[in-house]
Amino acid sequence: SQNWVLMVTAQTPTNIAVIKYWGKRDDSTLILPVNDSISVTLDPNHLCTTNTVAVSPIFQQDRMWLNANEISLSGGRFQSCLREIRSHACDVEDKKKGIKITKEDWSKLYLHIASYNNFPTAAGLASSAAGFACLVYALGKLMNVKEDESQLSAIARQGSGSACRSLYGGFVKWVMGKEENGSDSLAVQLADEKHWDDLVIVIAVVSSRQKETSSTSGMRETVETSLLLQHRAKEVVPKRILQMEQAIRNRDFPSFSRLTCADSNQFHAVCLDTSPPIFYMNDTSHRIISIVEKWNRSEEAPQVAYTFDAGPNAVLIARDRKAAALLIQRLLYYFPPSSDDLNSYIIGDNSIAKD
Ligand code: PMV
Repeated sequence: SQNWVLMVTAQTPTNIAVIKYWGKRDDSTLILPVNDSISVTLDPNHLCTTNTVAVSPIFQQDRMWLNANEISLSGGRFQSCLREIRSHACDVEDKKKGIKITKEDWSKLYLHIASYNNFPTAAGLASSAAGFACLVYALGKLMNVKEDESQLSAIARQGSGSACRSLYGGFVKWVMGKEENGSDSLAVQLADEKHWDDLVIVIAVVSSRQKETSSTSGMRETVETSLLLQHRAKEVVPKRILQMEQAIRNRDFPSFSRLTCADSNQFHAVCLDTSPPIFYMNDTSHRIISIVEKWNRSEEAPQVAYTFDAGPNAVLIARDRKAAALLIQRLLYYFPPSSDDLNSYIIGDNSIAKD
């Protein structure tokens, strides 16, 4: 019969870079970076995307819904991911339902995709990272794709660069690669989620408004105009990557924290060095940096690292639960919630959010 639907649901957490990716080395649609980057994948219970992908002979076109609103799939990034994943599809058989899809059928069948983010979209919380990683992963399962996570990461990369790092948990490196066709620009896992589980990530949502400069146009302007970026990519990041790998291996929080903060600050300096300059952080972000810097300096060893992506929200990485509890206390002291705000404060196990 033609009345069947085959579905797969997958959940993928977002990731936060501690050594940032900023800048593409060419203007192809392949998304090839100017430097390696390293990230930490968040706990899947918090910031994540859930995707349900379905295939049925009754579908008449590929369609997608994001948080229940239909969005267009005509963009080049979606098209690249869909084309690539279809090209790796294999035979699928569900004997109980009497469904048989051959490799060749996949190019003639349409997909419906429902995606849901449990956090603000495009507010510098790497929603596209979780989104494209989850899309590629879920479609890979649906289509019985045999490629491993690293090979899938090279497909997710063509949706959004940072997405390639969300195919793995724990600490992940995106190796920039050398090939012009991007085949070696993919993610590898440095350490799994159990390796350093003392760390607690606290996200201070400074603003859930959408960012003004998208990472795509921001990066393009930076690559075209910033000399600091050239220096960063050639001289700074390669050494930092090695130091960061070592810090992660040794669970060395002082080095991890120093490198994470320095790299976030250099990324925002590169944005400022762009013409016209790009401002992602705001006064509240700057105050959070000062509070953390002062606190770290007043202790024998750093307690918290901070990092900011293409938006004002702070990602704070505390060395352990005790430091995280003190951090939350401090944030509430410096940014006391007004009585109207109280409902929009979400203070959970490892998150604090203010809308
Ligand atoms: O993958 P994109 O286009 O969303 O770019 C991500 C850029 C940063 O989040 C600022 C840094 C990073 O490495 O994730």
